[in-house]
Amino acid sequence: MTTLRLNSTDPTEVTSDALIIGITRGGDGRPALAGGAPGVDKAFRGGLRSALRGLGATGRAEEVTKLASLGAIGAGTLIAVGLGDTPARGARIPADTLRRAAGAAARALAGTRSAATTLALVNGDTADVRPVAEGLLLGGYAFRRFRSAASAAQAKSPLQTATVLVDQPRDKAVRAAVDRANVVAESVVLCRDLVNTPPADLHPADLAAAARNTCVPLGLEVEILDEKALAKAGFGGILGVGQGSAHPPRLVRIAHRVDPDAPTIAIVGKGITFDSGGLSLKPAASMEWMKSDMGGAAAVIATLAAAARLELGVNVTGWVPTAENMPGGRAIRPSDVLTMYGGKTVEVLNTDAEGRLILADAIVRAGEERPDVIVDVATLTGAQLVALGSRTFAVMSNYEDLRDQLVAAADGAGEPAWAMPLPDYLRSSLDSEVADIANMGDRNGGMLVAGVFLRDFVPDGIRWAHLDIAGPAFNQGDPWGCTPKGGTGSAIRTLIDYLASVER
Ligand code: BES
Ligand code: MN
Ligand code: ZN
Repeated sequence: MTTLRLNSTDPTEVTSDALIIGITRGGDGRPALAGGAPGVDKAFRGGLRSALRGLGATGRAEEVTKLASLGAIGAGTLIAVGLGDTPARGARIPADTLRRAAGAAARALAGTRSAATTLALVNGDTADVRPVAEGLLLGGYAFRRFRSAASAAQAKSPLQTATVLVDQPRDKAVRAAVDRANVVAESVVLCRDLVNTPPADLHPADLAAAARNTCVPLGLEVEILDEKALAKAGFGGILGVGQGSAHPPRLVRIAHRVDPDAPTIAIVGKGITFDSGGLSLKPAASMEWMKSDMGGAAAVIATLAAAARLELGVNVTGWVPTAENMPGGRAIRPSDVLTMYGGKTVEVLNTDAEGRLILADAIVRAGEERPDVIVDVATLTGAQLVALGSRTFAVMSNYEDLRDQLVAAADGAGEPAWAMPLPDYLRSSLDSEVADIANMGDRNGGMLVAGVFLRDFVPDGIRWAHLDIAGPAFNQGDPWGCTPKGGTGSAIRTLIDYLASVER
């Protein structure tokens, strides 16, 4: 990961390879210099705007323009990054715009050793240090574990050091913001690496081992149930989904325990290490990115790691049900009935609706400990992409307040999210002729149907929310902001901020 530094050097005197400044788009459609770097234009003898215009810069969000400084300033290259329309007088540039701009600049700086930026100075508010720091760290991400030495040497390496220019580098709040950004980014990177790892290198036992290897050194409690322990306790959903695979399932429990009087939040992540669909086999094209079907589980592991590192004052229990959904001689068949943990029976009409089966077991188990809140995070439905697109995740809940709290946390963290309903009328579409419930119902509103299915397993009186991150967990398109191609680390920033908001 990029190393972050804080400094109060005059931007014109910075000796990094590159200096990143912000530009906005003026009413005339021409670039204007954002705050924080007044001396820079002077160093270019007042010609910076016209030079940038000559290079085609407009100031639109995330646009990156490079300019050789030819000795005008200390840094060899000036990077002007777009912040969108010039804000009205007195209005500020939103924190998330800064995060994305920092991410775009960091991406464009792959292959460069060092850069400094004035982005945290544009509004003159130290609260911007954190989003800028996060953007720099997350934008510079690259996954290179599976490249041969020769091809890795050819690829440009991520920016090595980034200096965030501030007025008071020794200020306590400023330093805390950088520390927090480092912890958050390390968690997001962990999650991205796990999601990007090919499924043959990350079977359920490997995901469980990753949870243990990450969390135990941080002082978290980790317990892993293997297939024998799962059978003994009656986890029919997790075992049923896993039984077509040569690689048996696991259930991981991770606990961050603080004050027993503090609230307890359980977070549950879907950990399908590969989703072939099972006997209800997916078509080839839909299978291409199904290594990402453990994105919720990886987010839970990463969030627990952050809770420990940040010493959050809230009890957090992470649950990771993990299985590989494969067709095979022992696989569950459409029309099979599973007896779930807790005794409810489910008729499996479609083996590709497997996520809700492993989550239902884990939600019932999590509920036994009577947490104040259960939040599950899952790449649950293709219908999520149809409803909200590839970047916005859905938040559903049996309590509107909790749903809105999570959406607010997402907004603050710079992760697009939207509240969605759980209409009661959809429940009857899940009625089964032979069992308590079926795992597939109405095709219309498929994301909501999956949420309604899960709600049936939430113990009475427990506040529960469900995040469907099917699209946002994996970016198949071009990189944007601080989001790379592939695994994204979706929902981690939201979960960390949500947990911090209920801290006592
Ligand atoms: N893992 C998929 C959902 C998914 C689809 C995630 C696309 C990311 C991108 C899930 O297990 C699934 O297959 N859901 C089915 C449910 C259906 C059979 C009721 C779906 O959405 O098609
Ligand atoms: Mn599936
Ligand atoms: Zn799945």
